[in-house]
Amino acid sequence: MTRESARARAPGKLILSGEHAVVYGHPALALAVDRGTAVTLRRRPGPTAIERADFTDPRLLPGLCTVLPEHGVGVEIESDLPVGRGMGSSAALAVAVVRAWAALEGQAMGFAETHAAAFGPERVFHGDPSGVDHAVSALGGCVRYRKTPAGPEITPLPSPALRLVVVDSGSAGDTGALVAGVRSRRPGIDPALDAIGVLVGQVEAALDAPAVLGPLLTENHRLLGQIGVSTPVLDAIVAICLRAGALGAKLAGAGGGGVVLALVEDPAPVLRAVRAAGYTAFDVGTAPATPAGDAHAGDR
Ligand code: MEV
Repeated sequence: MTRESARARAPGKLILSGEHAVVYGHPALALAVDRGTAVTLRRRPGPTAIERADFTDPRLLPGLCTVLPEHGVGVEIESDLPVGRGMGSSAALAVAVVRAWAALEGQAMGFAETHAAAFGPERVFHGDPSGVDHAVSALGGCVRYRKTPAGPEITPLPSPALRLVVVDSGSAGDTGALVAGVRSRRPGIDPALDAIGVLVGQVEAALDAPAVLGPLLTENHRLLGQIGVSTPVLDAIVAICLRAGALGAKLAGAGGGGVVLALVEDPAPVLRAVRAAGYTAFDVGTAPATPAGDAHAGDR
């Protein structure tokens, strides 16, 4: 049955390991976080329009209209994710609009259809994304993602009990431009991309052993520096986190700005140190896996 209005929400994400390398067929591990984006759709006369949004971007309407018709829908967007910081704000938006549209039209939608449809807005935002961001946003929990010529291999993993602090570098990274930059530096950087691919397997094996996991995350950060997506600010934040007792730290997402994630035993000293250095920081929890059989449509 179609409806007059529908609302759906989807979580943002943090990539624990494997960003950029995932574009070239290596696995990545990502966690859904307890912050996200909600989309409310209402039928209205005239062209489809954004009636209210917590953030603006010229790509918003073209991105949404890969899912929505050009006429007849009013859109409201609420988000508590920092935008352009590598926490999956666009992926959460993409999944939320796909779910809200399915609910408005009275259609049940499984994961595969949701994932395929959410590529629409994601391509408008990021060019040719691997699909990891909106896979974890749609599934929740913790996910291993691998892009293959036959389609993505997506494996839900048990959610690890990790204590994570997120530090905002204060500037956004442009994912499409950063991915293009990495591509332009190949094949010279392929050994570093391969090393990230190997590291992801070690990270997965250490998900329940924070003392082992921490140094692997820091090594992942070093390799991301080698492929050219870290910045002096991100390196400085990683160093502050480690000095303050973090078990490990890395940029998370495309880099060039965005956030650092730090694995901690106790968030307090790390939060104190980065805030004293002038950065915004918060501890973040994970979003639970979406229940099996969920139609992914309707108010969530
Ligand atoms: C961005 O969150 C993750 C990247 O690996 C890009 C992608 O996978 O499409 C940098």
